[in-house]
Amino acid sequence: MGKGSGYGKVILFGEHFVVHGVPGVVSAIDSSTDAEVKKSTNTNIRDERKTSKGYGEEKRLQQIESIERMLVAMHIEPKLSLDIWIGGSLPGFSGLGASAASSVAIARAINEELELKLSNEEINAVAYEGEKAYAGNPSGIDNTAATYGGLMWFKKNPTSQDFVEKICIKQPVEIVIGSTGKTANTKLMVEGVAKRKKADPKKYDPLFEQAETLAFAGRSALEMGDMEKVGALMNENHSILQEIGVSSEELDFLVETARSYGAIGAKLTGGGGGGCMVALTPGKELQDKVVTAFKTAGYEVLATKLGAK
Ligand code: MEV
Repeated sequence: MGKGSGYGKVILFGEHFVVHGVPGVVSAIDSSTDAEVKKSTNTNIRDERKTSKGYGEEKRLQQIESIERMLVAMHIEPKLSLDIWIGGSLPGFSGLGASAASSVAIARAINEELELKLSNEEINAVAYEGEKAYAGNPSGIDNTAATYGGLMWFKKNPTSQDFVEKICIKQPVEIVIGSTGKTANTKLMVEGVAKRKKADPKKYDPLFEQAETLAFAGRSALEMGDMEKVGALMNENHSILQEIGVSSEELDFLVETARSYGAIGAKLTGGGGGGCMVALTPGKELQDKVVTAFKTAGYEVLATKLGAK
């Protein structure tokens, strides 16, 4: 039997904009998806992840397409039957890179079961092919975070290798992830932004320039350990995500709730339209306060840290 895993992630700066070549900042989180794969006489997928309501059904066809795409990318005979199990600590909530984490986990498990000896770079490339089933035209930021982990700077390069750099911070910082409980379709969200951008460059071009400025400023504030600044920039990033039409009532509610309980920054994370948001809450006390506020309001929560090993 082959085994593999992939990290979940939060995007601190630049979701959606990264698809169009703007740089972004992403952090892996300390929850991962695990997969086990065994050659079999029938293909069977057992997905035992904890998920938001409807996630499994909504993603089922995309999951099958994703696995098929990865088998093609690994040059494996398409008729090969595999018994695939998916589980792990990362919940299937939209926005946490759960699809990319599962693609990386499955690619690694197939790699081990079939003794393909793929490098991390090759696993990442295979998972990127898998991501196309979920996101249509993905930037590659999610599968890169799922493969390598850590806090990183990412810029898509459509013609050759993406530009990826590790970002070092002085010490891990507490964050809270809140889930709206709504499953979102990343592919539709990404297509929607591309369509609106094309139709209204006068509105969208300045927002894309602002996103680039925010990513650079966010990276330098993180490296300098200026969390107040990071938080303010995250708030600004949430505003431009609202402007490009990817936030939702529930996301805005969770963002406002986090800020009103003292979070120094909060924004949606990932594709939006449902899914998750992230709040910057340095210190255990502040983190606990925001966790309690979310739980009291009836939302699922993950409390973790940026820059944790
Ligand atoms: C999804 O986590 C992030 C998006 O920017 C899509 C992508 O970059 O592939 C919305």
